[in-house]
Amino acid sequence: MSESLDLAALPADFTWGTATSAYQIEGAVTEDGRAPSIWDTFSHTPGKVAGDDHGDVACDHYHRWPEDIGLMKRLGADAYRMSVAWPRVMPAGDGPVNAAGLDFYDRLVDALLDAGITPNITLYHWDLPQALQDRGGWTVRDTAEHLADYASAVAGRLGDRVTRWATLNEPLCSGWIGHLEGRMAPGLTDLTAAVHASYHLLLAHGLATRAIRAAAPEARVGLVTNHSTVEAASSRPEDIAAAVRMDGHTNRWWLDPVYGRGFPADMRELYGVELPERSGDLDAIAAPLDWHGLNYYFPATVTDDPRGPVPYAREVRLPDVPRTGMDWQIDAGGLESLLLRLTDDYGVRELYVTENGSAFPDTVSPDGAVHDPARARYLEQHVSACVRAVRKGAPLAGYYAWSLLDNFEWAYGYDKRFGLVHVDYATQARTVKTSGLRYAEIIRAHRESHA
Ligand code: IFM
Repeated sequence: MSESLDLAALPADFTWGTATSAYQIEGAVTEDGRAPSIWDTFSHTPGKVAGDDHGDVACDHYHRWPEDIGLMKRLGADAYRMSVAWPRVMPAGDGPVNAAGLDFYDRLVDALLDAGITPNITLYHWDLPQALQDRGGWTVRDTAEHLADYASAVAGRLGDRVTRWATLNEPLCSGWIGHLEGRMAPGLTDLTAAVHASYHLLLAHGLATRAIRAAAPEARVGLVTNHSTVEAASSRPEDIAAAVRMDGHTNRWWLDPVYGRGFPADMRELYGVELPERSGDLDAIAAPLDWHGLNYYFPATVTDDPRGPVPYAREVRLPDVPRTGMDWQIDAGGLESLLLRLTDDYGVRELYVTENGSAFPDTVSPDGAVHDPARARYLEQHVSACVRAVRKGAPLAGYYAWSLLDNFEWAYGYDKRFGLVHVDYATQARTVKTSGLRYAEIIRAHRESHA
């Protein structure tokens, strides 16, 4: 296996991790002073989430974290990407810090470090305090400033032990899916709101970057964005133009401003929405980063759709291609291309795959095991894409598998299982899947290749 994957091509100090996020695993939504987030509201609104599932209990990680750290050790992972819940730490979104909320993360960080696992903390993985949503949420500038205050409180408390920080996870999902498509909290379908939210999210990233560095001088700060490669469905000029628009919507809108190019002019014109710009904002958004995190799941093939929603490009479902249980096309080549694009086009100097993984309908077999060869294969194909990207010059320093555990998959509820570890939600029993064992093998083989 190690021979076919050529793991020795990865740097000796390559980070192997797993990833989760607070609302997807913690549960305990009313404990120790936590207030509701937009996801509590959204998931408790009938019809918004499959099966009307919600994160009230989720994986009960808030109480079972020692067992979950044990699972990370079993996989041999040396890092853990997790998020802090803003509504636990600053329940009103601004104002007083809830000491009990921060205490939870303080204990978790200490236990991770004791286990030899490096925490990589994301400050915002979609759980905006509902109190801020009631005042306009991401459509208003104040929310960006409040994120910076919250970031400062968390980094001030944990920054003596935590050095890897990410400001936001996948602002595209918060901006476009939450405010334009309505499939995620807060569930809006309004282009002006979406464009303003996207602007304030990136501003929040810039302000929080500054705040983390001020509170924790050792911090290495990054941003985590999700991207897809975009192909035109045909060589028709209309389809090629549609692919350029979709690339602008999915990739350039989120990367160009962060890497000092400002918001892409073609997309500004397409959206036709005035940005809430103030002088100095673009500099804040483009603050040089210590690293970039890429979340990659699938590629996109698009056709012109002049009567459809912005960006007037519709995804085409390719026949006869492999797919996951999310119906997402499997194409590890897309990961390689995006790593190289971030390297060559945007000049990123330290890169991580901060999420990559697949959902399949796993079950526990009579022998007590969870056999998931399709996920193991997906993992191998994508690690192999990382190897190819490194050989071609990508400064890739680590890979975090999504996810450590099966968890609350947002609007899909608990039906979609992304974990390397199976969770029986009735009993909270955890079972390492065969893909988890495979991941452990890959990690071991990589270490041996450098021994
Ligand atoms: O579960 C999500 C995660 O919260 C963000 N990135 C994509 C994953 C799979 O959909």
